[in-house]
Amino acid sequence: MGSPSFERASAAEVLSGTRGPMVELKGWAARKHTVGGLVFVLLRDGTGYIQVSVKKGTDSAGAFAAARASTKESAVEVRGTVRDDARAPGGKEVAASEFVVVSPADSWPITKTAVRSASYLFDKRHLSIRGPKAIAAMRIRAEVIGAAFDFFRENGFQLISAPTFVQAAVEGGSTLFSLDYFGKKVNLSQSAQFYEEAALAALQKVWIFQPAFRAEKSKTPKHLTEFWMIESEQAFADQQDNMRVQEGLLSKMVERVIANRSQDLKTLGRTMRQPPLPFPRMTYDEARELAKGEGYPFEWGEDIPTEAERAVSLTQKSPFFITDYPLSARSFYHMTYPDRPKVTKSADLIAPEGVGELATGGQRIHDHQELMSRISSQDLPAESFSWYLELRKFGMPPHSGFGIGVERTTRWIAGLRHIRSASLFPRTLSRVSP
Ligand code: 4AD
Ligand code: MG
Repeated sequence: MGSPSFERASAAEVLSGTRGPMVELKGWAARKHTVGGLVFVLLRDGTGYIQVSVKKGTDSAGAFAAARASTKESAVEVRGTVRDDARAPGGKEVAASEFVVVSPADSWPITKTAVRSASYLFDKRHLSIRGPKAIAAMRIRAEVIGAAFDFFRENGFQLISAPTFVQAAVEGGSTLFSLDYFGKKVNLSQSAQFYEEAALAALQKVWIFQPAFRAEKSKTPKHLTEFWMIESEQAFADQQDNMRVQEGLLSKMVERVIANRSQDLKTLGRTMRQPPLPFPRMTYDEARELAKGEGYPFEWGEDIPTEAERAVSLTQKSPFFITDYPLSARSFYHMTYPDRPKVTKSADLIAPEGVGELATGGQRIHDHQELMSRISSQDLPAESFSWYLELRKFGMPPHSGFGIGVERTTRWIAGLRHIRSASLFPRTLSRVSP
C-alpha cells in the first residue's frame, strides 16, 4: 500500500462526501457477509461505519480472498472507490480493489449466546467497548467534557489541578479510601473543593476536572467508586450566582451534544431537548411535600432519600434545583441563612426522568470564627482542616461553588440505564477489572 492516488479518509468523511472517490481506510471489520462472488465488510474506524465491498475477479493481490477470510474485529486496510449505494448504511460504499488484514482477530467472544448477563459484557469491557452503543456513549461523554472546557473558558474561569493524595475529608469520613503513604495514612481525594477555595484567592474564578474517589458501599445505577468530577469555585459570588453557573454549564453540555452528537443519541435511542433557562428552583421543604404526595415521606433534616429524590425527579420535565437543604444533611463548610441557622445556602441540581442528582453546590463559610465554631460544634478534628481554616485569616471573600459528576451527567444526557455505561472502565463496589 502507499500509492499516491488514494486519499487517506475516515468513514465519516466518506459518508459526508468530503473525501473521495479514491480512498484509503483503516479500521476494524465489524461485520461481514458473503453473497456469491461478493464480500461485504462493515468497516468501523472510530468515526463511524462504512460498507466495503470486494468483488471476486476485479481486485488485485488477493483482496477478495483476504476479505472473505477476514474475521470479525480484525484490523484491516482498504483501498477503493466510493460510490453511491442506497442499500449501504449511510447510502455510500467503498468498492475495494485492495483489502489487507493488518492484524487478524481470534474468534470474537461477545456473541448472543455467550452474553448471558451485563456482568459478562463488563468482564469483557476491554473488547465490548467496540460495540456501537459503547462508542456512542463515549463520544457523548467527550462532548460533555469538551463543552465544559469551552464554557469555563468563555466565562473567565481558570483551569487548575489539585492533588489526589490528600489528608482532609471534604465530604465526610465514611466514604474515604485510605492508603499507606510512607508509613502515614492518607486518603484519595473525594473532591478538590478545598484546593479550589485556596486557588480562588489567586485566580478569582477557577474550575477543575479530575477523578474523585468514594468508598461507596451502595450498589446502585448512579454510584461509582472512581468517577470524574467537574468542580468550580468563584470568589465574591453567592449561591444565586452559583446556580447560574451550573445551569449555564449544563445547558451548554446539552446544546453541544444535540448539535454534534445527534447520530450517537440516535444509536442509543435517546431524544434530548434543550432545557429552558432558567432551570426551575424548588426548596427542600417543597420537595419534601412533593415526595410525601408521591408516597415517599421522610423526616425534615434527613438528606433526601434516593427513592424520594427519584419520585420528585419524575414529576419534572427538565433539570431543576432543590435549594435550602438542612445543615444536618450537608457538610460542615456550608453557610446557613442568618435568620435560619439550620438551613444552608445550597442546592442540588437534579435531572428529570427519575435520574436525580447531577451536582451539589453551595455558598461556603468564609469567616474564620464561624467556621471554627462549626467545626467544633460537629466534633470534627480542627487540626485536619488547619490550612483550610487559615485561608479564612487572609482575605477570604464570600464565595460559592459546586461539583458535577461527569458520568452521572453523561448517563442522563445519553439516556443510559446504568452509570457504568458512562465510564470506559468502571470501578464499582464489585469491580476493579479490567
Ligand atoms: O455531591 P458531592 O458529594 O459534592 C461534593 O463533593 C462537593 N464538595 C462538590 C463541590 O461543591 N465542589 O459530589 C458532587 C457530584 C455529585 O452531585 C455527583 O454527580 C457526583 O459528584 N458523585 C458521584 N458520581 C458517581 N459516583 C459516585 N459515588 C458519586 N459521588 C458523587
Ligand atoms: Mg451531593
